[in-house]
Amino acid sequence: MVSKLLVLSALFSLAFAKPTARSMKVREARESVPGGYVRTGPAPADKELKLRIALVQNNPDGLIDALYAVSTPGSASYGEHLSKEEVEKFVAPTAQSSEAVNAWLEQVGLNATTVSPAGDWLSVTIPVSKANEIFDADFAVYTHFATGKQAIRTMSYSIPASLEGHLDFVHPTISFPSPNPIRPVISTPLGGLEGRAIEPLASCSTSAVTPACIESLYGIPTTKATQSSNTLGVSGFIDQFANQADLTTFLNRFRPDLKGETFTLQTLDGGQNPQSGSQAGVEANLDIQYTVGIASGVPVTFISVGDNFQDGDLEGFLDIINFLLNESNPPHVLTTSYGDNESDISRSLANNLCNAYAQLGARGTSILFASGDGGVSGGQSQSCTKFVPTFPSGCPFMTSVGATQLTSSSGGETAASFSSGGFSNYFATPSYQASVVSSYISSIGSTNSGKYNASGRAFPDVAAIGTNLEIVVDGSFGTVDGTSCSSPVFASAIALINDALVAQGKSPLGFLNPFLYANPGAFNDITSGSNPGCNTNGFKAAKGWDPVTGLGTPNFAALKAAAGV
Ligand SMILES: *[C@@H]1O[C@H](CO)[C@@H](O)[C@H](O)[C@H]1NC(C)=O
Ligand SMILES: *[C@@H]1O[C@H](CO)[C@@H](O)[C@H](O)[C@H]1NC(C)=O
Ligand SMILES: *[C@@H]1O[C@H](CO)[C@@H](O)[C@H](O)[C@H]1NC(C)=O
Ligand SMILES: *[C@@H]1O[C@H](CO)[C@@H](O)[C@H](O)[C@H]1NC(C)=O
Repeated sequence: MVSKLLVLSALFSLAFAKPTARSMKVREARESVPGGYVRTGPAPADKELKLRIALVQNNPDGLIDALYAVSTPGSASYGEHLSKEEVEKFVAPTAQSSEAVNAWLEQVGLNATTVSPAGDWLSVTIPVSKANEIFDADFAVYTHFATGKQAIRTMSYSIPASLEGHLDFVHPTISFPSPNPIRPVISTPLGGLEGRAIEPLASCSTSAVTPACIESLYGIPTTKATQSSNTLGVSGFIDQFANQADLTTFLNRFRPDLKGETFTLQTLDGGQNPQSGSQAGVEANLDIQYTVGIASGVPVTFISVGDNFQDGDLEGFLDIINFLLNESNPPHVLTTSYGDNESDISRSLANNLCNAYAQLGARGTSILFASGDGGVSGGQSQSCTKFVPTFPSGCPFMTSVGATQLTSSSGGETAASFSSGGFSNYFATPSYQASVVSSYISSIGSTNSGKYNASGRAFPDVAAIGTNLEIVVDGSFGTVDGTSCSSPVFASAIALINDALVAQGKSPLGFLNPFLYANPGAFNDITSGSNPGCNTNGFKAAKGWDPVTGLGTPNFAALKAAAGV
């Protein structure tokens, strides 16, 4: 689209005798409006847009090499996590890139604010008319038919040719907001809240799972952790608030030895954590109760991301990582029970976010996410023809956690049928999982062929119990299902191993996957069940790694021994 706009802006430049006529190059374009959206009119010329500009990082490959070097057991620098400054050295744009972009911004009369610690993200607030002019764009109003959601987007935009290799991309531009924003991945909202008979303290039945049950299932000790520097972060989004009174009720019932334990609060993007019972969130309460209640004595921080997010369609997913990257001591473990469909996020954004996980991993943070609750059909069950990978599970630099369920009270586990798993369309298979993934793919022959991307990063990496976890919300007891249950449980086991490591003066585990795949014997291998979806039986759990339960559920003693403590 060499447009009228280009011609107009060229004339405009001449008329106002700007120093140089611009030679523009299309940076990103999409062929069609995404499904469900229609263009409903031009955007008001004076409407202010908050655009973020990603600068090209000076050495992203160096960051990834450094990440693997500190995260791969046996490597000479295993455990020698990078400082904030060391990470920023890889990520910061070169002086040349900053100067080129800033000179151009000045030339077009804009002031940018730096919004990431390393300076690789800038933010500008400009009216639509100006954005159309400087990016040769056509910002218009697009409306999502089913939800009424509106967004101002453009089908393409350009940057000065001289900025290629300096200015990476501009956001939000061609990437449309997901009609279904990031969601907690809880498959059954909450069962039996009213008048439920409260399960006995150590209950472990196929209809109720408690902390004591999980501890006996995986051999997780109840001894209190001792290291105050070893923090476990719990992400909170979309006004899901974690309630302290409910946590107290939960602990009094299920972990009386942890009576009085609390969590601390951090907020960003205007986040809050109001404490009235009616505002307690099922997801947030679940996440807090099964971290404080399992990671005995580990300091837990609830990180509440508000609605004033600065990262466009990402609803705080990038903001929270930049927020933690800006800390000198980010948490050793971060668990998140929210997700999206991979295809709802553009490749540029997915790459950028995945790179941010690599940065935080290099700093020594283990990043865990729930894999999703729609089996092979995505974050939530939906109709589909091809399998729908979830985000961010397709990113190779985080740990994706699937779900199991009990087959007997004595601890038999099978895959939970909702456990999302499969293969990314954006990220290739990383070497740490290549051999187990290729064995699995060979073992299933032509099953599901054409429905998944066999060269993609495969997930989940691991699993943990995800059905009938008993929680407290607004004073009442009930049970929940979902990979939302599994991520906090697995994260808690890792946090306890980190406590032992830190107590011995060792580094925490950091980015987990190379360590996990090097120790397949440290898991309870789940070999039955499957994750149906898209009118198929999905994938089958099998001996070894599989795209339903990954390597399996934690065998705490074996994992701890593998970590050398
Ligand atoms: C940019 O910042 C400078 C100095 O802070 C100020 O004088 C100028 O008016 C600003 N320009 C715009 C377009 O906001
Ligand atoms: C990083 O934190 C400092 C305070 O410690 C703050 O002044 C600064 O704005 C933060 N930077 C970013 C990009 O968030
Ligand atoms: C994934 O996308 C599909 C189709 O666009 C939608 O129906 C579904 O709700 C989405 N799931 C999530 C978790 O966003
Ligand atoms: C399959 O995955 C590879 C590796 O990430 C990617 O390059 C390719 O584009 C994907 N194919 C499709 C059809 O998405």
